[in-house]
Amino acid sequence: MPDQKLRAMPTAAGQLAIELPSALPSLALEPEWKAQARLWGHSLHPMCSYLASFPAALPHAFIARYTRPGDVVLDPFSGRGTAPLQATAEGRIGVGNDLNPLAHILTAAKLEPATPAEAKTRLTTLRLAWSADAASWDALGELVTARPGHPSALVPRAGSRGGADARDEPVPDEVALAFHPRTLGQLLLLRSQLRLDDRTDRFLAGALTGILHGKTPSYLSTVMPNTFSMAPRYVRTFVAEHGYVAPRRDAFDALAAKFERLYRQPVPTTPGVALHGDARTAGRRTRAALRARGLPDRARLVVTSPPYLRVLKYGYYNWLRTWLLGFDARTIDEELDDAHTREPYLAFMRDVLADLRPALTDDGIAVLVIGDVETDRGKPSREGLHLPERVWEEAAHPAGFRLAGIVRDEVAANRKMTRLWGEEAGQATKTDRILVLGASEAGRRRAIAAADLPIDWTWPPQRLRSI
Ligand SMILES: C[S@@+](CC[C@H](N)C(=O)[O-])C[C@H]1O[C@@H](n2cnc3c(N)ncnc32)[C@H](O)[C@@H]1O
Repeated sequence: MPDQKLRAMPTAAGQLAIELPSALPSLALEPEWKAQARLWGHSLHPMCSYLASFPAALPHAFIARYTRPGDVVLDPFSGRGTAPLQATAEGRIGVGNDLNPLAHILTAAKLEPATPAEAKTRLTTLRLAWSADAASWDALGELVTARPGHPSALVPRAGSRGGADARDEPVPDEVALAFHPRTLGQLLLLRSQLRLDDRTDRFLAGALTGILHGKTPSYLSTVMPNTFSMAPRYVRTFVAEHGYVAPRRDAFDALAAKFERLYRQPVPTTPGVALHGDARTAGRRTRAALRARGLPDRARLVVTSPPYLRVLKYGYYNWLRTWLLGFDARTIDEELDDAHTREPYLAFMRDVLADLRPALTDDGIAVLVIGDVETDRGKPSREGLHLPERVWEEAAHPAGFRLAGIVRDEVAANRKMTRLWGEEAGQATKTDRILVLGASEAGRRRAIAAADLPIDWTWPPQRLRSI
């Protein structure tokens, strides 16, 4: 399809928005998720901040319309697990897959959560382990903050279950600078004791990553906001220039308070499955995992937001969290870093969709949230222009999907975002476009027929309200 000319459109707010004309049919589905409260959805969702996550209300709009309780809902790029968690909270079987190990831990923590009793008991055990050897862990925290990176300041590896005397690896300077020595000592104990292959420990680890840094008293370090990790160099400079002294925060108390927030609603009882791997094989791995658990092995709905075109460094922007979990941020980015430009991206999406289609029921529906990428790291880019159209033509259609239509995120279109290609006329916008596909003609018809069904936005539903 040739690139089409942009039209400047007046919006309801009286601004000029840039309209990207689309040759694709629109689907009559209102983006009502935009009107919901920021924290709409299950209380486990905000376990940990995650870049480019979508609000839980977005998958709800599709789960409620396109599935019934007991159906399987799959997200092959699950990030912090928003779509599959919302699915299990609504009585569907949620499956989430991601290649980023941090995303996998967060997804697994939400889909196979510890019960409140399990989490609290484990926390008590860890608190006792701390009390039994607080002097040694304190001394280690002091040593590391005084001489980070020094050969005498080695600490136990993440998950090794080693004591304060295990001398496995150094701590990066910027990690040591972020915490009070006492808090760091507690974190070193938690980091060595928590095993990511254990369901309860994984839940604690996920909750701990979520309170690691942020600006309010609930966080263990205030050196940076909770949304993402600032550059290590920024942390070093900030500490030096502002004489930053980390506040003394008790990691055990902070975790207990986090549990109170996470468990505001009962944990979902419907099974969920968290997979770790490349989205290009997510369909076949999902089927195998569901079969192994004796569950229906095809999804009625895929709802996902693929990683777009731009390079979002999920490892680098989470280096403090990846350190805590024992993952190497650089390795994560190397593994995720495979499709920056349009052609490889479309080939990647073709492979993903070809593998997904057999994992959908005959009347299955796939919902792909795709941004029109107008800038790449601040610079204007034409690479992303008409991306949804390209994904349809060059990835979804060849994989055998049928197009139900495209949903435009009109409210976002009214928001001032950036100037497009240096154009002075009007305020350009970034628009999320949502491709809705049928796995077959039956799926396409179902997607169109149910698009304007009214759905219930009450949350929590009666059965999830705390007594
Ligand atoms: C836009 S985010 C999804 C966010 C998610 N919707 C949420 O609410 O948290 C895209 C995700 O794709 C993942 N990703 C990137 N390349 C991948 C690949 N080849 N296979 C699987 N996941 C990948 C990233 O780790 C990231 O979590």
